Amino acid sequence: MKAAAAARVPFCPALQAFQRILTMKLLAHVLCLCLGLALAWAQSDANAPAVPDRCLGLEMDAVAVNEEGVPYFFKANHVFKGFHAKAEHSNGSFTELDDHPHLGHVDAAFRMHYEDSPTHHDHMFFFLDNKVFSYYQHKLEVGYPKDISEVFPGIPDHLDAAVECPKPDCDEDSVIFFKGDDIYHFNVRTKAVDEKEFKSMPNCTSAFRFMEHYYCFHGHMFSKFDPKTGEVHGRYPKEARDYFMRCSKFSDQSDHVDRERCSRVHLDAITSDDAGNMYAFRGHHFIRKDEGNDTLRADTIENAFKELHSEVDAVFSYQDHLYMIKDDQVFVYKVGEPHTHLEGYPKSVKEELGIEGPIDAAFVCEDRHIAHIIKGTDIYDVELKVTPRVAGNKRPFSLFKKVDAAMCGPGGVKVILGNHFYHFDSVMLFVAGRALPEQHKVSLELFGCDH
Ligand SMILES: *[C@@H]1O[C@H](CO)[C@@H](O)[C@H](O)[C@H]1NC(C)=O
Ligand SMILES: *[C@@H]1O[C@H](CO)[C@@H](O)[C@H](O)[C@H]1NC(C)=O
Ligand SMILES: *[C@@H]1O[C@H](CO)[C@@H](O)[C@H](O)[C@H]1NC(C)=O
Repeated sequence: MKAAAAARVPFCPALQAFQRILTMKLLAHVLCLCLGLALAWAQSDANAPAVPDRCLGLEMDAVAVNEEGVPYFFKANHVFKGFHAKAEHSNGSFTELDDHPHLGHVDAAFRMHYEDSPTHHDHMFFFLDNKVFSYYQHKLEVGYPKDISEVFPGIPDHLDAAVECPKPDCDEDSVIFFKGDDIYHFNVRTKAVDEKEFKSMPNCTSAFRFMEHYYCFHGHMFSKFDPKTGEVHGRYPKEARDYFMRCSKFSDQSDHVDRERCSRVHLDAITSDDAGNMYAFRGHHFIRKDEGNDTLRADTIENAFKELHSEVDAVFSYQDHLYMIKDDQVFVYKVGEPHTHLEGYPKSVKEELGIEGPIDAAFVCEDRHIAHIIKGTDIYDVELKVTPRVAGNKRPFSLFKKVDAAMCGPGGVKVILGNHFYHFDSVMLFVAGRALPEQHKVSLELFGCDH
């Protein structure tokens, strides 16, 4: 993004003046709107409970993703669906939550998401005082609400927060419950409760799992935490409105980013570097997600990888370098700001990796020195420490007729096809697989697009 900012400098004074005018106009509009609303409000019903506005900085009661992975934020008797939508009455979606006036609002919520547990898979659980409600596709399950102590023995009433923690994020498929500074790991299979101490974490008022990360909210701030240990890495807490709510503070980049993160067009290539930053390429653009930062940025390939120009076939990262394959050429960039193209490149795919280009996808798994190359319906291994490099160990896979992109991380391999990805715990399981695993949405689950 640095290059993009630099390119804008010559236009700065004019642009800034223009932006200022625009901002003032907008502000004036917003003010008028607020006044108008306030008046309309005062006239309509002085006794009605206020509709919460999350851009004012709310402390949410509970957060959980629905069956499709869209986050729902609960506040009093309202729910916000996704990052944009206005508050609606939660009884519109979950009727029975209102039927028990002696129970308060939702204390905690989570989506059970364990394929090994078919009876509860994709059910949403809500906790109100001492009761738990289980919904499947917005229908309350027969027999609910039940006592929390009956369904989750060993878990206290009047919870603050709850979040699902499937394997391998937690050692066993678990639910993490929060009350004050007490933390409970509830084993879904054995119902064993393991009390933990999350020393570096504030008391959570709500918690949820999103894009394979764990977030604890406290007030209108949040922290990203390790679900096993409660450790918080990086600079937290952060302002929830900057990340989980589309309020006016969102940068002028956001339209660009929003278009790319929400696009349903297939990706050309994807990888994450050693630091965990993700790069995803599509046509002339790429999206970068900073691990330490949670920020998504979009830029043109031309801007950051000039020699490559656009439309890459496959990218993998190895020892602080991005190997970018386009047609029958390999471009190698040293990761940094800006990325620098190595002298002597591009080279032919044959010379660099010992296989004829073009290829469809390539990835390296952590701490290994093997590039896995996907070409058609075959996968090859290239030992990166051996020269000259040769593509050996050719084996066919049968789950896909074609692969658009693939990446490997601590949790395993993600294989991307169209707007979906599939997770495999290892390369071997991908190759040996005979039944498709659960389908995930690229736009939602990799880039956090909620619509
Ligand atoms: C939901 O709650 C609101 C406010 O309490 C009420 O006006 C509305 O009738 C309720 N809707 C349903 C479907 O129960
Ligand atoms: C966290 O919860 C405990 C009770 O479990 C309480 O004593 C403590 O004051 C709380 N901390 C904050 C910062 O609210
Ligand atoms: C976080 O993002 C900003 C730009 O949004 C960037 O300047 C900064 O270097 C990033 N920090 C880290 C630790 O990646």
